[in-house]
Amino acid sequence: MDRFTSEILIRKKKKKVLKGKKILLGVCGSIAAYKSAYLVRLLVKEGADVRVVMTNDAKSFVAPLTFATLSKNPIIVEFYDKETGEWENHVEISSWADLFIIAPCTANTLSKFANGLCDNILSAVYLSATCPVFIVPAMDLDMYRHPATVKNIETIKEYGNVIIPVDSGELASGLEGQGRMAEPEMILEHVRNNSPSKVVK
Ligand SMILES: Cc1cc2nc3c(=O)[nH]c(=O)nc-3n(C[C@H](O)[C@H](O)[C@H](O)COP(=O)(O)O)c2cc1C
Repeated sequence: MDRFTSEILIRKKKKKVLKGKKILLGVCGSIAAYKSAYLVRLLVKEGADVRVVMTNDAKSFVAPLTFATLSKNPIIVEFYDKETGEWENHVEISSWADLFIIAPCTANTLSKFANGLCDNILSAVYLSATCPVFIVPAMDLDMYRHPATVKNIETIKEYGNVIIPVDSGELASGLEGQGRMAEPEMILEHVRNNSPSKVVK
């Protein structure tokens, strides 16, 4: 087989991995949230069925309409609608998912995950999840290297979640260093290659 044919076969094989998979994407309040819009596009192009859960702060960075349009699904933000009393079943949402990616994951949400806090729909879905969970941190370098964050990341790993490493480079604050969210293509590669069979909870 020549190189050209084998590359086409590899691409075709890669494409199949996420086809038909139900992927839940959690988005937190970080400037890196704009990259997650492109991640949704990549996942949808792979043939995945994508639903997006946003924190309230995430809505200040990217409009829910952007994620709803790209994922072709309504966005999940609140536990319940205050006017109608209609509520989101976080257990149903998490059991729907084959994979759960949280990108970007803020220092705040990392801390909630490490400590079992459950004060918004994203943390409730996380605590209920039994599928593989991929956490993609994004924050400024001093937040990232703070002992509390380092400890929270270690704890989250011990729980069986996959941490997709941060990139190094120019940060939104103007500082240089570690903390940039991994690029969407890199996240996709991690998810394709590292799906753990079981999450320890
Ligand atoms: C412009 C701006 C950018 C921010 N970027 C980040 C970030 O990249 N990472 C982070 O951990 N927090 C960041 N924050 C702080 C979070 O938005 C804040 O901690 C918030 O409470 C996170 O809420 P959430 O985890 O519920 O989404 C940023 C705040 C602002 C105003």
